[in-house]
Amino acid sequence: MENKTLQKLYEKFEFRNILPEEAEQAAEVEAICFPPNEACTEESMKRRIAKTPELFLVAVDKQTGKIAGFLNGIATDETSFRDEFFTEENLHNPKGKTIMLLGLDVLPQYRNQGLARELVNHYLCRERENGRHLILLTCLEAKVEMYQNMGFHDEGLANSTWGGEQWHEMSYVI
Ligand SMILES: CC(C)(COP(=O)(O)OP(=O)(O)OC[C@H]1O[C@@H](n2cnc3c(N)ncnc32)[C@H](O)[C@@H]1OP(=O)(O)O)[C@@H](O)C(=O)NCCC(=O)NCCS
Repeated sequence: MENKTLQKLYEKFEFRNILPEEAEQAAEVEAICFPPNEACTEESMKRRIAKTPELFLVAVDKQTGKIAGFLNGIATDETSFRDEFFTEENLHNPKGKTIMLLGLDVLPQYRNQGLARELVNHYLCRERENGRHLILLTCLEAKVEMYQNMGFHDEGLANSTWGGEQWHEMSYVI
């Protein structure tokens, strides 16, 4: 991303780990960004945040102090995505070399200014520092190109039936 665009993003947003008291807000953002069959429920979001706050990255609007977007994942040594990662936060292994990304959300009013791209980029840099080797995610066909543009490789159809949809598995080797 162009330096000026990046600078603007960092002027406008604070990128940091999530706070426990932001769990409800994150669930609200998720409900706005995803249809009910795909969204993480409020209970599940709260459990995720309680168990793995350091695997979240939030972008907070400095003017409002509220979450504009976030990315979250779970660490493991497994190397293929399965749907249990969405619901079983106990699968988290802090020392795992793989991150399964579980959700990328940007509120509609903050879209199309590079926030999702920077959330992914910032997350990858942070997890490189944390010694991870592989990042995996699943996405619908319509988002394959977006992730390819962020450096991910399309592994083809995933072993996932989450929300009754057909998913692609995307990988990024660090
Ligand atoms: C998808 C989403 C995260 C994009 O957020 P954003 O901040 O607007 O994205 P960015 O501005 O960083 O754009 C990143 C790139 O993806 C592309 N892109 C953005 N939204 C897209 C979409 N809905 N479909 C396909 N490509 C998209 C942009 O054109 C941009 O490409 P470029 O840098 O080559 O121009 C946001 O629209 C969202 O939260 N949608 C609902 C939830 C969702 O679908 N999440 C991803 C699930 S796998």
